[in-house]
Amino acid sequence: MRLKNHIVILALLSVSVIFAQKKKTVAIAPKNQFISELLSRMTLDEKLGQLNLPTSGDITTGQAGSSDIAKKIKEGKVGGLFNIKSVSRIKEVQKVAIEQSRLKIPLIFAMDVIHGYETIFPIPLGLSSSWDMPMIQQTARIAANEATADGINWTFSPMVDLSREPRWGRVSEGSGEDTYLGSQIAKAMVNGYQNNDLKAKNSLLACVKHFALYGAPEAGRDYNTVDMSRVRMYNEYFPPYKAAVDAGVGTAMASFNEVDGIPATGNKWLMTDVLRNQWKFNGFVVTDYTGIPEMIEHGMGDLQNCSSLALKAGIDMDMVGEGFLSTLKKSLEEGKISMSDIDTAVTRILAAKYDLGLFENPYKNCDIDLAKKEIFSKENRDFARKVAAESMVLLKNDKNILPLKKSGTIALFGPLFDNKANMPGTWSVAANFDKPITILEGLKSTVGKSVNILSARGCNFLSTAAEEKININPHNPKSYVRDNRTDEELIAEALEVAKKSDVLIAVLGEGAEMNGECSSRSSIELPLVQKRLLDELLKTGKPVVLVLFTGRPLVLVEEDKKLSTILNVWFPGSEAGLAISDVLFGDVNPSGKLTATWPRNVGQIPIYYNHKNTGRPLNNKEGKFQKFLSNYLDVPNEPLYPFGYGLSYTNFEYSNLKTSSSKMNFSEKVSISVDVLNSGNYDGKEIVQLYIRDVVGSITRPMKELKGFKKIFLKKGEKQTVTFEISVEDLKFYNSDLQFVAEEGQFEIFIGKDSDATNKINLELVK
Ligand code: BGC
Repeated sequence: MRLKNHIVILALLSVSVIFAQKKKTVAIAPKNQFISELLSRMTLDEKLGQLNLPTSGDITTGQAGSSDIAKKIKEGKVGGLFNIKSVSRIKEVQKVAIEQSRLKIPLIFAMDVIHGYETIFPIPLGLSSSWDMPMIQQTARIAANEATADGINWTFSPMVDLSREPRWGRVSEGSGEDTYLGSQIAKAMVNGYQNNDLKAKNSLLACVKHFALYGAPEAGRDYNTVDMSRVRMYNEYFPPYKAAVDAGVGTAMASFNEVDGIPATGNKWLMTDVLRNQWKFNGFVVTDYTGIPEMIEHGMGDLQNCSSLALKAGIDMDMVGEGFLSTLKKSLEEGKISMSDIDTAVTRILAAKYDLGLFENPYKNCDIDLAKKEIFSKENRDFARKVAAESMVLLKNDKNILPLKKSGTIALFGPLFDNKANMPGTWSVAANFDKPITILEGLKSTVGKSVNILSARGCNFLSTAAEEKININPHNPKSYVRDNRTDEELIAEALEVAKKSDVLIAVLGEGAEMNGECSSRSSIELPLVQKRLLDELLKTGKPVVLVLFTGRPLVLVEEDKKLSTILNVWFPGSEAGLAISDVLFGDVNPSGKLTATWPRNVGQIPIYYNHKNTGRPLNNKEGKFQKFLSNYLDVPNEPLYPFGYGLSYTNFEYSNLKTSSSKMNFSEKVSISVDVLNSGNYDGKEIVQLYIRDVVGSITRPMKELKGFKKIFLKKGEKQTVTFEISVEDLKFYNSDLQFVAEEGQFEIFIGKDSDATNKINLELVK
């Protein structure tokens, strides 16, 4: 019987290969049967090979067959490859696996498709500032269309690490500080990538990362220690990961940091008790880059020990470390792990390949014509332009300098106004850095006929020494091209240009590699050379607009004091220049709102809106110091810009906050509504935010927590009633036994334009 099955399976596999080459798909056995039969034919080495995920290394087009990695693929020592780009190359490599390895198991091809593939959308922190879930989902869909058309099956996204740590460079890759918003975005991204149907040609397997708590490193230093209570994990940091799991994410990535004293990669409580047993995750878990060997440095023993620890904890695939490949055999012989531990991991990986339809057609993502049609299409770029404009946050516009008139002379300054390589921002692995539209190009093509546009560099990003450190990104080597003139020469030229102009636009801020992985900063102000240029421009007395690039909340106190106009554009992506022009000239009214608090100085960090009250709260918002209360001698408690903050060219007024009932039991729902009036002079979008405070609890509860939001469009003069429904689910939290409960008692509900909302109504939860 067994032998017969083997023959059937062999026949099926070879049939599938023959058909697949003709680009046809064949029917194969049901999943469990297919996998267990395949597993029974695998040698131990072949099993360990499936757990191995190297980078593509030395593969270049036309040489896949002779590359070093090809040798391993032929021997069945590779389960997948990552960061290999282009459909023709991927097809070549897949052919090696299908035609030259004994079992012909297809490879899975992964890439960091983080905020778009070749069509690049704003960095995730920017995307989150749109608070627009259908739009965010669509960005992931487009990324999936492009990536799958280019041979990719699997993306290392979404990154859902909640963070209140702007010193940490990777805040740029996440959705900010909030649990509720972060969870909504996690779900939207997974749905966008996987499209509820992994078999479809254009569905991309998603990977929620970095599990867990990577966004809370001590002192904001990347990869540093994390230590927090379980109550905080469950209530604040875990929900976005869980939301991705609930949305059916197919894979998860372990984080580099430790959790409760054990590196996440070897943490059984995290990977098995929480992820699999409590949350019912049934996909596979991959380590982060060299996560297993890094456990040696963490102090968890030698490579053999770390590898068996990781496998036992629930890790299935080893990214780059090759700890599984090189040591698990020995651990098996010594009885430290069992064959069933290995089989479990292999089964999960084969299951993902099965779900993707790769056994039926290993070349399902290898259609060369499709790549040409789908990637960087006009349609995708038009959408990217729209998304970029929706992500921008107007931080200040005191003198209504914005929107600009489409006439007169304007001048552009700074290291970013004509800089293609910096428009996409960090983690734009597949981007073509010659393609993004700069601000100079964008303005010329939109208003160039009616507006006279001048420009001068004015300054470099940083001083020479500091720039050297950030000029080393392998993915974007051209991002910091210095102008070798002295600071004085650059400023003198800028001032000459300023003299001839009506409005001065300073395009300043971080370069793409000043945030992202391993780009922690202990000072998060604008670099001195840039501040100096700004001061010189301000001295001219002409209107100055700061167009700010950043991947993190910055300390902007000085600029906020000196300038009347600040537009934060994050890193807007492929269509940067067009989107910036749309907002500057009022073709799009800005509506983005911050998803992370902007501190007044680094000493306030961590600073976030949903903090606890403490036993000695400061009861004045003006920041008046009071002895023996929880405050600072030298800075107010309040941030510069709160969570949820962002201006518009128009004005929104809130009134008539109402509830359908002031009491609710555990099975009822209550409607809360508010009237929003567009009382300004422009049509515009507003993000209406609802926050809840649980006044008394069995554990201390935050001052308020976001529990709902609606993005609405109002014509000028228009008024709309916005209604939210509250149920007991919105009042639940994890208590000290880590049970998810709602407790009877008083709640306060706030609705407003940002997290400072004071307009409130009371609600009582009764039995
Ligand atoms: C990062 C991950 C990324 C991986 C693969 C690591 O350094 O932490 O976010 O997915 O590399 O490129």
